[in-house]
Amino acid sequence: MNESIRCPFGTTPSGEQVEQLTLSNGILTCRLLTFGATLRSLVVPDKDGRPVDVILGYDTLEEYRTQDGYLGAVVGRFANRIAGGRFTLNGREYTLAVNNGPNHLHGGLVGFSYQVWAVEELTADRAVLSLVSPDGQEGYPGTLRVRVTYRLEGSALSIRYEAETDRDTPCNLTNHSYFNLAGQGSGPVLDQEIALHASQYTPADGTSIPLGVLEPVSGTPMDLTRPTPIGAHLDEPFPQLELGHGYDHNFVIDGPIGQLRPAAWARCAATGIVMETETTLPGVQFYTANFLEPGRKGKGDAVYGPRHAFCLETQFFPDSPNQPGFPSCILRAGGRYDHTTCYRFSIAE
Ligand code: GLA
Repeated sequence: MNESIRCPFGTTPSGEQVEQLTLSNGILTCRLLTFGATLRSLVVPDKDGRPVDVILGYDTLEEYRTQDGYLGAVVGRFANRIAGGRFTLNGREYTLAVNNGPNHLHGGLVGFSYQVWAVEELTADRAVLSLVSPDGQEGYPGTLRVRVTYRLEGSALSIRYEAETDRDTPCNLTNHSYFNLAGQGSGPVLDQEIALHASQYTPADGTSIPLGVLEPVSGTPMDLTRPTPIGAHLDEPFPQLELGHGYDHNFVIDGPIGQLRPAAWARCAATGIVMETETTLPGVQFYTANFLEPGRKGKGDAVYGPRHAFCLETQFFPDSPNQPGFPSCILRAGGRYDHTTCYRFSIAE
């Protein structure tokens, strides 16, 4: 390996140094940034053994700082939306920034995706990044101490999210990678296949806030329980797809919360690359990159646009601080948040 495992990746306007970390285990190679604990690239061998970077990203810190698509970033303190930027906890109402129509999105104005994380540990195939989010940051209660561990394990990348708080707080951490199994910069993913281990989803209103019910996917274009080309039903006149401008929905992963279990499967015929996603979390936001800015320049010569990737944001359900019927996202003072999501690669038979 001739690339340094740790190298500078620019300086923020306030003078913080950002680093790029490279992990490799002879099968997979990934690049991380301390800015946003971002997954900047993930290089996977295709069916002919050629390296394919399956993650969208940017060449410069400036682009990561000014983007609003959260490419590859760790999102927190609360991934996805909180209705009206308000919730009540232990009898007290909290007010958060409203940064997505009428709602709070992805942790607010300066969420975890836009902060510089500390490197706690670094080996050839493992990096531990940490962040302390002070009491009151972005309106959330309690000092939250977060650790994210990226680890290459054979042909899989696992991401473990750990957190502790000194006051009860919502906590919902995810990674917002945009995957394209034909290679980043190769255009739309409409012919790549997806399957979700989800027999229910949470239908949402026109601002992507769940209505509070779990609905069966069966008989609708939300039924992705069998491998389906991503583009097969995307433009059908189904109200939920019209409201979301495509898939941008939380699916309820079958099986017990807290156990690492299958969440999604995806395959690209051209490269033969198969990606299986497993998680301990209750849900996954399947998002077809509907809002990627058309013509936006990405890594190398890549040019991105809507539907040039898909996201599988494993998560507590959106707006769960306001939805008593959803699994609780509240991390209690003295308790431990410990969730893992794993992306496993193989070649189609
Ligand atoms: C999530 C949301 C989308 C969008 C992206 C970021 O996937 O559900 O609506 O906000 O993040 O662009």
